[in-house]
Amino acid sequence: MQPFSKEMSLDTEINKRRNFGIISHPDAGKTTLTEKLLLFGGAIQIAGAVKSNKIKKTATSDFMEIEKQRGISVATSVMAFEYNNYLVNILDTPGHKDFAEDTYRTLTAVDSVILVIDSVKGVEEQTRRLMEVCRMRHTPVIVFVNKMDRDGRDPFDILEEVEKELNIAVRPLSWPINMGKDFKGVYLLYNHSLNLFTSNKTKLSDEIVEIENLDDENLPKLIGEKDTKKLKDDVELINEVFEPFDVSLYREGYLAPVFFGSAVNNFGIKELLDTFVEIAPSPLPRETTAGMVDAHEPKFSGFVFKIHANIDPKHRDRIAFLRVCSGKFERNKFFHHVRLNKQYKFSNPYNFMAQSKNVIDEAYPGDVVGLYDTGNFKIGDTLTEGDNYMFKGIPSFSPELFKEVINTDPMKTKQLEKGIEQLTDEGVAQLFTQQPGNRKIIGTVGELQFEVIQYRLKNEYNASCRFDHLSYFKACWMTGDSNKIDEFCRFRLKDVVFDKDGNRVFLAQTAFVLQMAKTNNPDITFHETSDFKLEVAM
Ligand code: G4P
Repeated sequence: MQPFSKEMSLDTEINKRRNFGIISHPDAGKTTLTEKLLLFGGAIQIAGAVKSNKIKKTATSDFMEIEKQRGISVATSVMAFEYNNYLVNILDTPGHKDFAEDTYRTLTAVDSVILVIDSVKGVEEQTRRLMEVCRMRHTPVIVFVNKMDRDGRDPFDILEEVEKELNIAVRPLSWPINMGKDFKGVYLLYNHSLNLFTSNKTKLSDEIVEIENLDDENLPKLIGEKDTKKLKDDVELINEVFEPFDVSLYREGYLAPVFFGSAVNNFGIKELLDTFVEIAPSPLPRETTAGMVDAHEPKFSGFVFKIHANIDPKHRDRIAFLRVCSGKFERNKFFHHVRLNKQYKFSNPYNFMAQSKNVIDEAYPGDVVGLYDTGNFKIGDTLTEGDNYMFKGIPSFSPELFKEVINTDPMKTKQLEKGIEQLTDEGVAQLFTQQPGNRKIIGTVGELQFEVIQYRLKNEYNASCRFDHLSYFKACWMTGDSNKIDEFCRFRLKDVVFDKDGNRVFLAQTAFVLQMAKTNNPDITFHETSDFKLEVAM
């Protein structure tokens, strides 16, 4: 009977977990919503407890500020709380666009997302980029249109924009009655009740009024004749224009339910959270080099999606964030580090309850475990109970800015090399090496990373460097006919570099050059992410 009851408890643990990320363009209200979800979940008691992890300053940043903010972002990287017998894990993502790759990678570790849109601004640039990543992975999305207390855009226009620009079908589940100063609340389309708005930043209970239907005689008394008529017309239109909500289409990533509210006023959060825990998927199967691995598979597996340096520079250790994918993670049990082909056990693994870290004895699929690391982990590493597969879909994305590292203190060459090696393991940036000459080239998606690297090299490794700009546009990994790749690399020697795993990478100067290379070399496939590497390596 023992194994049976063990499986039962694994299933129960998995089914109650909801692991997701909140994404938005900066300033749409991600931090505020995160905080309000934690308040509703009882994980924090007062508003203001969650600090924004936004890197607010620009190129001329005060570095201590960046460090401080990085510190905060560790504390708020993952926040777990219990709600209605569900265990919710929020994986936070940096809002700053220079840290977009970090965000993309965090999205590899979530099972669904909540997308926050500012009702005044609608769909913005970062929203588009992040949603592209979600669509690639068919991540289920719930949309929260925030700031209804401000005079924003017409809700129908917002929905149309989301559908067109983000390429996902939508279905409103709540509907706003006016906005701005006249915002009266939302009508919940799925249970025909009204949630009436009062501007209040501290209350936690919504004023929900049950009504029979839109012909209920109380409705005009509650929201006025004019708004009753408008609401009826709107709802009629909604029912004509949008298909009824289909949860399976949502789970497949094709249909996004939409809620309207005002995070700063705690308004519309409860229905969002109640619906989220009901419909969001429990930990999903994940793709590996040996096929799909289901969360309910009894043997443990997980992957590292983020590595964070200790903010105290005196301690060089780091924290690896491990997403548990199947089975049970246990403290002090030996697990197999697939890339290094070594066994490791962890005596102080911890979880991230909001605002605190606790050493844990076990963790289940959907959980994120913090592992102290002295340099054994790289992003994308897989841990198993002995199996030799690797999780897929945790790629490096092609950087967009490239600079050569010039050592400005030859006495500290060793420190510089070590620092660059370790910082690039963390995923702060990507390191490429060019031969002959052993030139070190760093690629990032944002200018800010170069400043962070320079600062951290000085502070943590006592090494100095400067960066010389290189005008490259994209890095492409190559697969295909190996003779043709050899020939291509000989011919383009000065634009071919090696990544950290020794793969050859073509640096294209412009989109045109890349296109020409593709056209002239039909036997070579040029990849803008490194995900294919796993198949080659296995
Ligand atoms: P982000 O993490 O997505 O970047 O956004 P964040 O939550 O920090 O919110 C950005 C700004 O929008 C904040 O104002 C926040 O108070 C405000 N905000 C969030 N939700 C709402 C809402 O429902 N209605 C209105 N009117 N504003 C909202 P701030 O002035 O930048 O900061 P703060 O001084 O208020 O903290």
